[in-house]
Amino acid sequence: MNTQDRKTAVITMKRHRWLWTLLGVAGGFLFLWSVVFKIIVRIAARFGYATPCPISFAWLLDNPIRRRYTRPVLDRVGIQPGDVVLELGSGTGVFTVAAAQRIGPRGRMVAVDIQPEMIKRVEQRVRAAGLANVETRAADAYHLPAADESVDRAFLISVLEEIPDPIRALAELRRVLKPDGVLSITAEFLDPDYWFPAETIRQLNVAGFTLVERFGNLWCYTLNFRKAERQLESTRQGETLVRNRQNGAYDEHPDRVEVVTPAWTAAPA
Ligand SMILES: C[S@@+](CC[C@H](N)C(=O)[O-])C[C@H]1O[C@@H](n2cnc3c(N)ncnc32)[C@H](O)[C@@H]1O
Repeated sequence: MNTQDRKTAVITMKRHRWLWTLLGVAGGFLFLWSVVFKIIVRIAARFGYATPCPISFAWLLDNPIRRRYTRPVLDRVGIQPGDVVLELGSGTGVFTVAAAQRIGPRGRMVAVDIQPEMIKRVEQRVRAAGLANVETRAADAYHLPAADESVDRAFLISVLEEIPDPIRALAELRRVLKPDGVLSITAEFLDPDYWFPAETIRQLNVAGFTLVERFGNLWCYTLNFRKAERQLESTRQGETLVRNRQNGAYDEHPDRVEVVTPAWTAAPA
């Protein structure tokens, strides 16, 4: 090997060292983000410290990779022309405009987010797209701006897991959905709050929903549910067994009892 060859070999090795360092850093970051961060978020949620994704993370929601799967995810949600649609936790509106375009002028859509800064971004997008069928509302998941049994399709994308009392939010979604309405839940693995599909199904079953369709994989899945006949039980806040006092039928049929959370019983009608 002459001097020139040796120099070339050293340069190639150095280049590869940089490549391995870069891969190591990227792998470490991915591990930190998708495992360590997830564990911290779960522990925090257990102690009641669930927080909404901050507006400073908007750039993470609105990136070219996510924009690429807007269409396939909305295909799974199954929005039809003329539907009344509710999007809970719209964030900056990455999915809002495309969803509203699918329902067309005969349909109506309300995009809800607890953070007014997020809603402002959605409004900008809706205005820029010239849509007249979208209403934007800063509201929380426990008080949805929709009448009882008025919504054909409600969808949540990487939202349910960050709501402190998901059962209460699901009870509210159950209220606004039409009897044959569909509730669509999408989760993405890279979301620090991510739940595995079995966990999502369990929560939805508890809240009175039955799984009717499932799409995707662990990386990004969508589960579609319809209302079950009634809520079964709760897993949160100590498994409190109470009769449904709002419905006299349960007093006439004492075998038909429900288990609900205290938060749920306290929820406004
Ligand atoms: C991870 S972001 C996802 C945003 C959007 N769905 C998307 O996929 O780009 C979750 C959003 O849910 C909203 N959110 C969290 N808790 C909420 C609650 N209790 N009520 C309404 N919105 C909530 C947050 O403000 C945030 O914008």
